[in-house]
Amino acid sequence: MQCLQARVLDYNPAMPTLRAYEPHDFAPLHKLDQACFPAGISYSKTTLRYFLTLPSADCTVAEDGGRIVGFILTEENPPLAHIVTLDVDSKHRRHGVGTLLLETQEANLAGRGVRSILLETAIDNEAAVAFWKGRGYRIEATLKGYYLGRIDAYEMRKILPGARQSGMKLGEST
Ligand SMILES: CC(C)(COP(=O)(O)OP(=O)(O)OC[C@H]1O[C@@H](n2cnc3c(N)ncnc32)[C@H](O)[C@@H]1OP(=O)(O)O)[C@@H](O)C(=O)NCCC(=O)NCCS
Repeated sequence: MQCLQARVLDYNPAMPTLRAYEPHDFAPLHKLDQACFPAGISYSKTTLRYFLTLPSADCTVAEDGGRIVGFILTEENPPLAHIVTLDVDSKHRRHGVGTLLLETQEANLAGRGVRSILLETAIDNEAAVAFWKGRGYRIEATLKGYYLGRIDAYEMRKILPGARQSGMKLGEST
């Protein structure tokens, strides 16, 4: 698992602390993912463990009072990265936790040469679609029956700031 790059965050008592995933976090992460997504879309233990243990994976958790309230899991092959999942506990939503996790992960990925980030999200997940659009992700395609063979997904992409100047064109993936 890759380490977080040092990043100074402004102190905000309402904000959780961010740190890199540790193996003892597995059970609470799996429980949170089960709570965040419908059955069949949430990850099984086997699938979540598979993604977490990829050499190319990076996972950041948000902790509040010793309890995990959110996490982001990505995998990367610079200049491309993929958001595997972003989960925030329902009681902690709309307080900027998702944005904090995402912006921190984007900065860490950019520091390792990532210029373009892809993700998939169910088109009926209105909160997520609004969240991603507001954070600069644009719909590139609709993937028919992506979830459970019957729920369509948007494929969304963000070109990180600076990538255009360095020559990457929209739609260029690797
Ligand atoms: C999507 C998710 C990660 C957002 O996390 P969050 O911590 O609530 O996000 P933030 O507080 O940083 O929200 C930032 C902005 O996103 C948008 N947003 C977030 N939730 C929204 C909702 N339910 N409806 C509309 N817009 C929403 C808003 O613009 C919000 O800003 P505002 O609160 O000032 O209006 C969270 O809702 C979640 O975990 N959902 C379940 C799992 C999921 O769908 N993950 C994403 C798909 S991989």
